[in-house]
Amino acid sequence: MTITKSSGFKDLTVVSFESRQAEAMAKMIENEGARAISAPTMQEIPLEKNPEVFRFADRLLAGEVDVVIFMTGVGARYLMQVLETRFSQKEIVTALAKTMVVARGPKSVKVLKEFKIPVTILVPEPNTWREILEELDQNERSVSLKGKTVAVQEYGTPNQELLEGLKSRGAKVIRVPVYRWALPDDLAPLQSAIQAIIDGKVQVALFTNAMQVEHLLQVAAERGLESKLRSVMKNIFIASIGPTCSEAIIEKGFQVNLEPQHSTMGALIKETAEGISKRKKNSEFRIPNVEKHGSTFDIRHSTFMKACRREPVERTPIWLMRQAGRYMKEYRDVRNKVSFLDLCKNPELVAEVTVTAQEKIAADAAILFADILLIVEPLGLELGYDSGEGPVISGVKTVSDLKQLREIEPFESLSYVFDAVRWARQALKPDIPLIGFSGAPFTLASYIIEGGTSRNFEKTKALMYSDPETWRILLEKISRGLVKYINGQIEAGAQAIQIFDSWVGALGPDNYRDFVAAHSRSLIEGIKKAHPETPVIHFGTGNPELLEPMTKAGGDVIGVDFRVELDAAWKRIGYDRGIMGNLDPLVLYADRAAIKKYAEKILRQAAGRPGHIFNLGHGILPKTPVENVQYLVEIVHDFKI
Ligand code: CP3
Repeated sequence: MTITKSSGFKDLTVVSFESRQAEAMAKMIENEGARAISAPTMQEIPLEKNPEVFRFADRLLAGEVDVVIFMTGVGARYLMQVLETRFSQKEIVTALAKTMVVARGPKSVKVLKEFKIPVTILVPEPNTWREILEELDQNERSVSLKGKTVAVQEYGTPNQELLEGLKSRGAKVIRVPVYRWALPDDLAPLQSAIQAIIDGKVQVALFTNAMQVEHLLQVAAERGLESKLRSVMKNIFIASIGPTCSEAIIEKGFQVNLEPQHSTMGALIKETAEGISKRKKNSEFRIPNVEKHGSTFDIRHSTFMKACRREPVERTPIWLMRQAGRYMKEYRDVRNKVSFLDLCKNPELVAEVTVTAQEKIAADAAILFADILLIVEPLGLELGYDSGEGPVISGVKTVSDLKQLREIEPFESLSYVFDAVRWARQALKPDIPLIGFSGAPFTLASYIIEGGTSRNFEKTKALMYSDPETWRILLEKISRGLVKYINGQIEAGAQAIQIFDSWVGALGPDNYRDFVAAHSRSLIEGIKKAHPETPVIHFGTGNPELLEPMTKAGGDVIGVDFRVELDAAWKRIGYDRGIMGNLDPLVLYADRAAIKKYAEKILRQAAGRPGHIFNLGHGILPKTPVENVQYLVEIVHDFKI
């Protein structure tokens, strides 16, 4: 057989959601010259594996059901098919005829008529749960729902408002979910296809069944990726096998760019390739993202990533903690318009702030704009930044409040951070790595227990010494949540991670070993286990005696503050780790001569050994002149190592 190539698919990546014929689809796609991603979305459930349907049937035949609501045509038909595996059609129809039958819309009416099931109530447009309840309420003058048994046929997701509305009218509700399709047992191919779409690597998506779009969205939502997927799908060419499938795609808020004349897989692929080739000629069709940066730079070759791996570099990479902040006018302008928390929760603005700061000071890496304290909201606490005295966390007054904190489920509650990572990653130049971050368990626990910033850490230490069990439970809960949170950031596109243990210096080395080390270690191990290639920077301040135990707890690079000399610190850490630091942020308040002098001193202390990342010993302070920061970056870049 000769294949006539329309060449429309050349150099494109095409994702197919077909399940049963997955391999055949992939072959056909490749025959047209594209790269195929096969992402099965479904498996068919045998008819008889619908136990709820049979339970419903038993009650229906026993005359125990008063009202049956049919929600969809497809579902109604499938329900009948399932029932017919055990009962005769006549038995079912006779039993249904004795009930009040409610058809939600024209499609369910059509199916019910086919089976000669008499429809009592036809719900008017727009056929939502509201109209269903209104129709039932009007009917209530003659028949009240109170104490009645109402069965609701469901197909796909249940309609909670309808179920609640029926219950509030005193009905006993039986849900009758009919399953024809389930998610496949192995979700990995679908998950990685979603990631590829989000990363801008896919230009065409092929749907061959109406349920595929629902399953695609379900899996994306479970990973906190739904909104990002939705925004990227707008730029993708979507082809659908036929009208029912197209309707489902459009109903879910996506566009359908093409439907073939005949509903076969072959026609779908051929006509899509032709359609794209036509559009390419008319230059209507843009390949999203691929052209955007015009470069395929491998970020692992950036100076920052090399230094993290302790590979030699031509110049020392530099970035600064809190490089996006109030010292920068562009940041203050954004903050004049939105509160700090609203800024953190707006992925587009986060991307803007992250990129602006990196570009303005020419840093070799960008740090995601966010805050270590964002994780306290998912724990069930309140967070505010507007008190004028630093952050305020409320909700913990007693030890029992601490014990009742929720598990952090970042894919539910912090998905805005993952969205922000993706936006920032897309907005940054391809050779600039993006650093994701979190606080370390001790620093976060101290904020939670004290309710904010603290001088002596009285409550924190009191709990640590007097109630080690509650302490352990709290720190374990925090580090468990952080592992998921950080791994989510990496999966969304962060290339490196920093763990901030900003207040750990309040401890001595013995307390650190007894009460903290295990939790920081389990956090870092949880990251490295899932992402061995992603460098982790472990940063602490305040007490050089902690260098050894912190190094032992983990980190590819150890971040040190200005209370220790860099050369002495590296020796203590060991040369098998990188080092980050450590200019006193207040040097940036001085003149150029001082900045040059102290920066070069640190560069000389690093002594050309691979693995040094230049940074401050702690975050930039708000009154720092931005020109001084730019000057510091120049000094570091110009220094011959
Ligand atoms: O540029 C960057 O470094 C990225 C963004 C970032 C912020 N906070 C933004 C922020 C990062 C990495 C953090 C980490 C953070 N947050 C730490 C660890 C770093 C360190 O300095 O030790 C800590 C302890 C916090 C907690 C926190 N958040 C405090 C104490 C404060 C108030 C004090 C202050 O600096 O204003 C915040 C608020 C905060 N986080 C601001 C910024 C830019 C200022 C908010 C504002 O715009 O008013």
